Parts: sequence; structure tokens; C-alpha cells
Amino acid sequence: MSNSERFQLHPFDLVLFGGTGDLAMRKLLPAMYYRHNEAQLPDDWRILAVARSEMSSAEFIAAMEEAARRYIQDDEFHEDTWATFIQHVEYFPIDITDQSKYEGLSKALGDWPERVRVFYLSTAPGLFTRICQGVADAGLVTENSRVALEKPLGRDYDSAVAINDQLAEVFNESQIYRIDHYLGKETVQNLMALRFGNSLFEPLWRREHISDVQITIAEQLGVESRAGYYDHTGALRDMVQNHLLQLLVILAMEPPVSIHPDAVRDEKIKVLRSLQPITGRDVLTNTVRGQYREGIVNGQPVKAYLESEGVAERSKNETYVAIKAEINSWRWQGVPFFLRTGKSLAERRTEIVINFRGIPHSIFDTPAAPNRLIIRLQPEEIIKLQIFAKGRGDEMRLSPVNLDLDFDEAFDKRQMIAYERLLMDMIRGNQTLFNHRDEVTAAWQWIDPIIAAWENYEVEPAPYSAGSWGPAAASALVAKESCGWAEEYF
Ligand code: BG6
Repeated sequence: MSNSERFQLHPFDLVLFGGTGDLAMRKLLPAMYYRHNEAQLPDDWRILAVARSEMSSAEFIAAMEEAARRYIQDDEFHEDTWATFIQHVEYFPIDITDQSKYEGLSKALGDWPERVRVFYLSTAPGLFTRICQGVADAGLVTENSRVALEKPLGRDYDSAVAINDQLAEVFNESQIYRIDHYLGKETVQNLMALRFGNSLFEPLWRREHISDVQITIAEQLGVESRAGYYDHTGALRDMVQNHLLQLLVILAMEPPVSIHPDAVRDEKIKVLRSLQPITGRDVLTNTVRGQYREGIVNGQPVKAYLESEGVAERSKNETYVAIKAEINSWRWQGVPFFLRTGKSLAERRTEIVINFRGIPHSIFDTPAAPNRLIIRLQPEEIIKLQIFAKGRGDEMRLSPVNLDLDFDEAFDKRQMIAYERLLMDMIRGNQTLFNHRDEVTAAWQWIDPIIAAWENYEVEPAPYSAGSWGPAAASALVAKESCGWAEEYF
């Protein structure tokens, strides 16, 4: 695919199942508005929002506007752009289990095989196969159709395989867009730019020079109103199986031969398949589960997970997980990748820390600590390279200083939200930032034994106070092979 093809958009219909849902209102519709506002859409396009509630297009648009005013940045919301945006939006009430109800949608889509058609399933995963079957039986799937699915894709290897098999009955793999919204974040794409757009890091990016890697996705949010989903999902399935493993894979993969989707996905899959399985008693030493108790987050009192609405009494669900992962490869053998994520933590911070090995021999009196590369993805996008320099003054004393890059200062453009990029790529037909079925199943193959061993050894989540950095056991996990978690030395 040439660069111009990669960026070109043809006329399209975006059929948004779950059109009245939270994700659609908070992220997907605002993302389309931003693209329209920046004149990035072709002249001819439509959003056909689909949901169960009976209402007219006008009523849907009113609800969408209310959400848009909340979720679109004030300085980006323009009345005249909004007025033209809504001309492209229609609403269709459909009970997706009633096949006769697809008729209205079918008429609206018309017989237009060359037009790009994206079926975006922003619904409960239990509905995915029913909707795919519904659109197929209604004759709506054309050669230019695509289907986009939100995570979670299954809750273990077997269920993920079953969903993928059912999808394959209706769509080719090249038509299926499995979303991990982390891959849509510009900051995550910048990881690839950093690694494969610079000659500086690649020679150092290996076991000979790197002692350990830490990847943190810390959230201040608690379970909020999502207990129904979260209490039988947990942090391992909700965050590690997808977002954290995707970050690990981008950091660890071999340079792909091109940015072509197959080339990138092949390298990613290899990393997932090289992960050392954590089985049996190894879960006791290589993983930490946690669950938050009451505490203070961002100055506000937060009640314990167990006291949250919708959480089962005495729930054993984890809201925090830390794992020591290892990759069996020439490049990474012996380098621990410490992964952690949790809810109701001290800060919102997504950050990668690469700790380099120390110098072999010091000629200075002050001990030189190892160099460190810090890549912060959220809330700010910052890259820091920590080096050592002689401080001002008479003495030859080394002090750490940072070579800092702040992307907000470097680029004056608005940072796109992840879904803008993902939606545009689906419409263009570029799968680079979407997961292949083998990636999803390989990730489950690594996750399943951890869950099985937790059950087997009855590993209960360790308590931690909301507003802290997680259970004490997580510090012990890194203590032997790293100089502590990042917050301990910044
Ligand atoms: C989602 C998880 O996939 O990612 C949520 O289901 C989590 O539990 C969210 O809060 C975090 O995403 P972001 O973009 O806010 O880091």
C-alpha cells in the first residue's frame, strides 16, 4: 500500500452498533466530529447509529449533541461545523435478535457494493456473533465491508478461538479489525518511531545493555459503575491480556521489514509466542494480585472495592496485578519485563522505564548509577534520557540530569484521540494497528495458565490502600533484579 493510498478515504458508511452506548457517545462520535472538523473526511460519508431504544434520528442527534458538548474540547466545538456534521448522521432502532428489523438498515445501505462499509460493534461481546450473523443473513456484507470489535475478545483461549471461528464464517481475516485502543494512541505509535526511526537506540536495545524493563499503567479511577463487567474480569484480563502485552510487544519485537500490517503483526506474534509461560508455583514468585481498600485518591475519599456497588460480597477479583515476564529469545534472554497495572492508585501514569546496565568500572569517586530511558505515554507525552554529568563546582561529582523531550512543546498540533486514528484506518482498510486473531489467542495462551495457577493455589488478592502504589509485595517482586519501581527513584 503506497502512502497516498494509506491516507486516502473513499466514501463510506459507518454502521455503529451500540450507537447510544457510553463508548459511542464519549469517544467514537466525538472522534468522527474531530475528523470532520479538520476536514479530513470525504464529501460523501454517513454514520448509521444502531441501538435498541426506539427513537427518531432527531432525538438521537439531540442526545449525541448533549454528550458532544461534554466530551469535545470546548475550543474545538464549533456550532457551524456541528450543523454540517449532524447532516451525515442517522439512527436506526433495531432489536438485533429480530432478523426482520434489519430491513430499514438494509434499505438505507442500499445496493452499493463499491462503497466502504464498516460495522462497528460497540456492544457487549456476547452479541458479536449474533450481529455478524444478522448482517450476513440480511445480505449486508459486501466485499468492501469490514467489522470492528471492541475488547474483550473472549475470556480465555477457548472462548477467543470460538468467537474468531464464528467471525470467520462471515468475514475474511482481512475484513476483521480487532481493536486495542492503546494501539491508536499517538504516544504508542511514537514507541515505534523511537525504535525504528532512530539509529541511536537499536544497537543498545538488547540484553547486553538493558538490565530490566518496567511497564506501568496506573489509573486513579476505581471500578466506578462498571462492576457488572469488571468484577468477573479483573485487571489481568482487562488490562494485561491486551494493553500491557501490546506495549511489551512493541518494545520487544524485532524490526519489521516494513510498516505493512502483515510484517508488523508477524513480529508481534513472535514475541507473544516467546513469552516464558508462568505456570504452577511460579505464580507465587512471579505475580502479585491486589485489591484496593478504602483510601484517598487525588484528595478525595474512595471506598473499598468490596464496598462498591455491584461488586460481589467477599469478591476475590483483582484490581491490581504485577508480573515478572520473561522473553525466550537471543535478544531478551534474562531481561525481566516487569508489568503492572491497577485501579485507584496514587497517580494516573502510563510509563515505560528502560534501565540500562551500569558502567563496568568507575573512575570517579561518586558511584554512577545506570542510565535510564523513561517514556511516559500518559497523562503527558514525555521522553527522558537520564544521563550523568559533572555538576557545577570544584569537585568532580557526577549528578543525574535528564535529556528531556516534551511532545506538547515540540509539536503544536492537538493530540488526536486514539479512536480518530483507529476509525480512519478501518475506513482506509489499514490493519497495522489492529490485532490478528493469532495475536489475541497467543496472548490468552500466556494468560490462561496464570489464572489457572491462581485458582489452583488459591492466591488471594493482597490489600492495598486506594491512593497508594499497590501492595507491598509488588516492591519485593522487582527488588532482586531492578532498583525498584519508578516512583521510588523519581
Ligand atoms: C480499558 C479498560 O480497556 O482501558 C478500562 O477496560 C481502563 O478498565 C481503560 O480504565 C484505560 O484506558 P486509558 O485510555 O484511559 O488508559
